[in-house]
Amino acid sequence: MFSPQQTSTAMELLPLLYLLLSCSAGTSADQNGPVIVKEESDAILPCSLSTKKDIESELFDWKKKGQKNKDVFLYNDKAFYGQGLSGQDEQFKGRVSHFPDELKYGNASIIIRNTKASDSGNYTCVFPDLQQSPVLIELVVDRILKDRSAENIPGVSPKPSVKILNQTNDGALLQCEVLGASPKPTVEWQDSAGNKLPAEEPQVSERGGSYDITLLTTVKKADRFHCVATQEEIKHRTETDTYVPLNGAASKPSVTILDQTNDGALLLCEVLGASPESKVKWQDSAGNVLDAKEPQVSERGGSYDITLQTTVTETDRYRCVATQEGIRHLYAEIYVQINGSPKESATGLVVAVVGTFSLL
Ligand SMILES: *[C@@H]1O[C@H](CO)[C@@H](O)[C@H](O)[C@H]1NC(C)=O
Ligand SMILES: *[C@@H]1O[C@H](CO)[C@@H](O)[C@H](O)[C@H]1NC(C)=O
Ligand SMILES: *[C@@H]1O[C@H](CO)[C@@H](O)[C@H](O)[C@H]1NC(C)=O
Repeated sequence: MFSPQQTSTAMELLPLLYLLLSCSAGTSADQNGPVIVKEESDAILPCSLSTKKDIESELFDWKKKGQKNKDVFLYNDKAFYGQGLSGQDEQFKGRVSHFPDELKYGNASIIIRNTKASDSGNYTCVFPDLQQSPVLIELVVDRILKDRSAENIPGVSPKPSVKILNQTNDGALLQCEVLGASPKPTVEWQDSAGNKLPAEEPQVSERGGSYDITLLTTVKKADRFHCVATQEEIKHRTETDTYVPLNGAASKPSVTILDQTNDGALLLCEVLGASPESKVKWQDSAGNVLDAKEPQVSERGGSYDITLQTTVTETDRYRCVATQEGIRHLYAEIYVQINGSPKESATGLVVAVVGTFSLL
């Protein structure tokens, strides 16, 4: 018999033992982390024999763990829930399938369609007749946040949801999605000035008279972009905007010494082609903001040229910082030696001080 102390030690070892077993005994979950999906989309829960043994004539059993385990999917020699076998939990009826063509490679993965938040949890995949340890998979189903203002009015299109799908130094692919709108809205992308942007053909799907619309566009400059959904018939308009900060090299400040005497130097900071307009300031190496003249700002076609001058009287490293919409800071530095000539200068880029971009 175990003494109480031995028992507790043995209990502590159990999870470890389980972990070791499931890592070594020939089943694999393809991945270690949880499977994460958005509510209403499909989730594939992976489970395969590393031996790749054909399991068409075998038995495997998927359960969802809980106070009472739920029967998710059972396969036995070509019969399965919905086809020859019964006992599936109501929660999963009609939503779970295996991959028949994959069985011969030892692949017992399943797909759960149209997931709900209540599907979240831990699932086990077991081969009772084989010398295989169970596979444990965690599924996380993220709730979709529904726009509350539209919730009470059936059909009115909810606020579009926008996403940056891909971003490079000179462009970003933006996606706008409007789900469950009726009547059918028109959806368009606009820049901050309200100009309609060229976009790809919208993808439209309809179920029961309500429409899901996805619209992609590629943008080439930093700006605040709006996705606007309009339902003419009911005079309803809703929009979501997103700030896209592209690394326009032109909006990085450049610094020069305009004039230098034995007691001081006149410094110039120039930010050319900033879009949107930047706030520009001079700082010393301790971060103190220096007195400066009024910035000179000129605009051309939505982008701004800004110059800012300051006079310094001490040897130090000075930094000109350009801040775009509080979202990122770009700076350039210059080392100024009073009673001598400048020794070195450096430019740099600080990103994501507040966040690289904001999704509203
Ligand atoms: C098992 O099949 C699923 C569905 O086709 C697939 O996603 C998964 O990658 C397969 N697993 C292996 C190990 O081949
Ligand atoms: C799933 O199992 C893991 C590891 O045992 C545990 O940390 C996690 O809390 C479980 N998740 C749920 C939803 O029960
Ligand atoms: C992102 O864009 C680049 C350049 O156009 C492309 O090479 C890459 O495949 C894209 N990535 C994704 C995930 O679409």
